[in-house]
Amino acid sequence: MQIKGSLSEVPNTRLSRRSLLAALGVTGAAAAATAVASTASAGERRHGHDDRPRPDFSPGSPTRAFFGPHQSGIADAPQSHLAFASFNLTVEGRAALRTLLQDWTAAASAMTSGLPIGRATTGADAVPTDTGEALDLPAAALTITVGFGPTLFRDARGRDRYGIAAQHPSALAAIPAFTGDALDPRRVGGDLCIQACADDPQVAQHAVRSLQRVAGERASLQWTQLGFNRSAVLSSVTTTPRNLFGFRDGTNNISTQDNALMDQHVWAQAADGAPWMAGGSYLTVRRIRMLTTTWDEEPLAEQERVFGRRKGDGAPLSGGSEFTTPNFHATGTDGKPLIDPDSHMAAASPANNGGIRILRRAFSYADPLDAKGVPDMGLFFMAYQRDIGRQFIPLQRRLAAIDLMNEYVQHTASASFAVPAGVRGPGDYWGSALLG
Ligand code: HEM
Repeated sequence: MQIKGSLSEVPNTRLSRRSLLAALGVTGAAAAATAVASTASAGERRHGHDDRPRPDFSPGSPTRAFFGPHQSGIADAPQSHLAFASFNLTVEGRAALRTLLQDWTAAASAMTSGLPIGRATTGADAVPTDTGEALDLPAAALTITVGFGPTLFRDARGRDRYGIAAQHPSALAAIPAFTGDALDPRRVGGDLCIQACADDPQVAQHAVRSLQRVAGERASLQWTQLGFNRSAVLSSVTTTPRNLFGFRDGTNNISTQDNALMDQHVWAQAADGAPWMAGGSYLTVRRIRMLTTTWDEEPLAEQERVFGRRKGDGAPLSGGSEFTTPNFHATGTDGKPLIDPDSHMAAASPANNGGIRILRRAFSYADPLDAKGVPDMGLFFMAYQRDIGRQFIPLQRRLAAIDLMNEYVQHTASASFAVPAGVRGPGDYWGSALLG
C-alpha cells in the first residue's frame, strides 16, 4: 500500500539490503556525512507526501542535536517515550562492526533530524526505503543512543570477534547476580543496545525498527522494552515526574546542568584507563517489575516509610519540602528515626553509601498481564555513570540487602553497556575512537 502517494518515482526493483544502504547514502567510511547533508535541506522534515517543510507542530519537543561531544539521550531531559532494544551480532571481524556502526550512524543522524531513511519517494514496484510510519511526524525530540555490551569485547565463549578485547574498559563491568534477582534469561545482556527516546511513541518505535532493518542479517534482536513518562504535552507541569508507585522520582538525581558533577560521576574521562571512551558513559539497565497488587493495598504511612518521603509532595519524612536535605538523624517522639534507615532513599543516598551517585534516566512500563493474569508493570531503570563496578554494583548490592522496597519489586532484566562519546560531525560515526 502506498503512503499518501509519497513513495513514488523510484526504481522498480525490490529493495535489497544493498539498495537500502545505498539509499541511505551508506558507502562505508563517509556514511554519517551523507544522511543529513544529502537527503534533504535543513528545513525539510518527514512531514508528508509533498516533502515541503511545515511548521513544527510540537514546539515543546524541538529537534535535539545528534552531533556533539556526548551522545544525546543521556544529559538531555527524558522524553515521554522509550523504545529500547538489545542486539547480538551475527557478523564477525572489525570491518563488519565498523560498517554496521557507520550504517547505523547515518540512519540515526537522519531520523533524529526528522528525516526518513533514504529517499522520501520510492517507485510503486519498489520496496520503500523507509517503513513510513513516521513520515508525517516531526523529529519529536528523538534521541538515539548506542551502547556496547561486555560480550562485544569478548563473547560468552571467550572469543575476541572484533579484535577489541584489549580495549575493554575496566569500568564496563558485567552485572553480577544480586540477592532477590528474578531475571528472565531472555532479557539479559546484549552485544549492542539502542536507546531511542522521543516525545512521540511512533517516532521512538520507528527508530528501533529502522535500525533493526538497516542491520538486517548482521544483528539479531534479542529483547526489547517500550517505556513511557508523562506526556510532553504537559511540559508546563514542572513538578518532578511520578513513578507507578505514585511517588515523585528524580528529586535528588544528579543535575545534568552541573558540569562538575557530570564530569565527576557520569562522563568517562581519558585518564580512566580507556581513552577511547572519553566523553562517553556507562549504562546499567534493570527492568524492575512493581508488585502493584500488593503495593496498592498498603496504607499511606507504610508506603511513605518504604521510600522515606511523603507521597504527596515528595518531602523527606524528616520535614521540609521536596528539595530539603533529608536529616537521617532526626527522631520522632518515640525515639525512632523519622526516616527508616532501610527506606529506599536512606539506602540509596550518597550520604549513607560513601558518596556514590548515578544519573538515573528511567521510564515506566506497562506490559500485558503475565501467564497468571497478574499485571506486569514497573520501572525500566536506566542509569548512567563513570564506572559500573564503583557505582551501580555496590549501590545495587546495598539496596538488594536492605531496601524496604524489595518486598514490592522484582528485577527481571539486566544489562550493562559502554556508551561511547558522541558523533563529532558528518564523516564521524559511533565508536570511531575504538575502531579507527
Ligand atoms: C522500581 C524501582 C525503583 C523505584 C520505584 C525507585 C524510586 C525512587 C524514589 C521515589 C526516590 C526518591 C526521590 C528521588 O530522589 O528521586 C528514589 C531515589 C533514589 N533511587 Fe530509586 N527507585 C527504584 C530503583 C532504584 C535502583 C535500582 C537504584 C540504584 C541501584 C536506585 C537509586 C536511587 C538513588 C541513588 C536515589 C537518590 C537517593 C538520594 O540521594 O536521596 N533506585 N528512587
